[in-house]
Amino acid sequence: MTVIAIDGPAASGKSSVARQLAERLGCVHVNSGALYRAVTWAVLNAGINPGDETAVAGFVHRLPVTMTASGGGAWIRVDGHDPEPYLRDQQVNAHVSTVSSYPEVRVLLTAILRGMGEGGDLVMEGRDIGSVVFPETPYKLYIDAQEEVRMARRAAQGEADSVRQRDKADSSRGSAPLQVPEGAVVIDNSELSAEETYAAVCAALAARGLAGL
Ligand code: CDP
Ligand code: CDP
Repeated sequence: MTVIAIDGPAASGKSSVARQLAERLGCVHVNSGALYRAVTWAVLNAGINPGDETAVAGFVHRLPVTMTASGGGAWIRVDGHDPEPYLRDQQVNAHVSTVSSYPEVRVLLTAILRGMGEGGDLVMEGRDIGSVVFPETPYKLYIDAQEEVRMARRAAQGEADSVRQRDKADSSRGSAPLQVPEGAVVIDNSELSAEETYAAVCAALAARGLAGL
């Protein structure tokens, strides 16, 4: 099994790169952030205070959440529902970092993400993929860009998203914080287009011996 692990802060360009790589390699693209967002949506939907760690952990423990690979994508179901339309709601943006900071939530979702590797090759993006989920993979990338550039990108997408607060929370939490994984190639794309970023990523992976690019 080959896993390409892509980590980095919000709006750094992870999804753009991950999608293209998976298409090119003919493997599954997994956006792990979607899983954290789906669980956060379920917590909010159930009327649970996202700041109440014990309540959130208990709820997520009982929540039937699945992720299934199909047609190159990874499809999430939460208690039988497709959460996709709600994943980028402002309320989810506002609370996802809090819910993601709870160790019990991370244990449950990390197990689901690791399970995705049993089906074959993957490109997985997130915050802790190269450091915690698949630390043994030789193909680790950390995509970064200056904060102002990332905030402008998210605003251009028409989304209300507190990128700065989310990054701060994700980087400072005790459990699986956002960090450059050991052995990762760091690519700052502040001044690169999406196409140039993809080219830089392919060059870095090819230099590590990945075939097929
Ligand atoms: O698309 P964007 O980079 O803004 O966010 P995302 O990848 O959808 O992730 C949303 C949130 O989920 C992050 O801000 C983290 O709090 C959390 N997350 C995480 O804790 N661990 C991961 N592997 C992926 C996401
Ligand atoms: O997945 P992540 O939140 O890290 O970022 P993304 O969804 O791939 O990219 C966020 C936005 O920035 C999208 O509209 C991309 O087209 C744009 N982008 C860009 O303008 N230049 C880049 N080098 C990378 C992404």
